[in-house]
Amino acid sequence: MAFDRLKMPIGDAMFTQRSVRRFKPDPIPIEDIHLIIDAAVKAPNGGNRQIGRFLVLTDRNVIREFGTIYHEAWWAKRKEERGWTKRADIPPEEKNYKLASELADEMKDVPCVVFACAVPPGTANSVIPATQNLMLAAHSLGIGSVPTTLHPTVMDRFRAMFAIPKDVAFHFCIPLGYPRTAYGSSRRRPTSETTYLNRWGAPVPWT
Ligand SMILES: Cc1cc2nc3c(=O)[nH]c(=O)nc-3n(C[C@H](O)[C@H](O)[C@H](O)COP(=O)(O)O)c2cc1C
Repeated sequence: MAFDRLKMPIGDAMFTQRSVRRFKPDPIPIEDIHLIIDAAVKAPNGGNRQIGRFLVLTDRNVIREFGTIYHEAWWAKRKEERGWTKRADIPPEEKNYKLASELADEMKDVPCVVFACAVPPGTANSVIPATQNLMLAAHSLGIGSVPTTLHPTVMDRFRAMFAIPKDVAFHFCIPLGYPRTAYGSSRRRPTSETTYLNRWGAPVPWT
């Protein structure tokens, strides 16, 4: 079975997953993309109606063209949320945003991009688990990824570029590639701060 190639223990996969935003240009073998997408669709989805749809980009010229749209969308979002219009506006402590802005520059060069979409009713709930499966399968093959979104200002052009029908909902843009740099472990608040037992606000028995 092809899935035998996903050998990373599930604990390692979940606990070492990071947002990868710096990619080598090396192409991803199509059979690996196939396996990653097959893993994605095994995820839970509402009523097993399987409304998720995946558009995979591997053509360098197409990705280059999309990179321009992504860059515009990323900065449109930052302007709207924070009033930032250039990298110098990003405060030094906002390291994730700095890295994300570099991805906005580099999206045009990533070897593969997947758009996670949904046909009507188009709900994100049925695509989010698939997106996580997709990224964990990629991670298991040594392929990095990060879930990203777009911005309304580019959506008409984005749809036109790929002939995406109006009734298809876009949810995530996921660049895929072999990581160019090493990534340490993720930082999260202790679950004892974010989890309650039996009643909202009641502590869990771990620290
Ligand atoms: C809904 C959603 C939207 C996101 N959008 C972006 C994005 O536009 N650009 C980006 O570089 N990362 C994006 N991310 C990735 C988050 O920044 C990342 O998951 C978070 O910083 C934790 O990173 P870590 O797992 O490496 O610790 C997004 C993640 C989610 C779940």
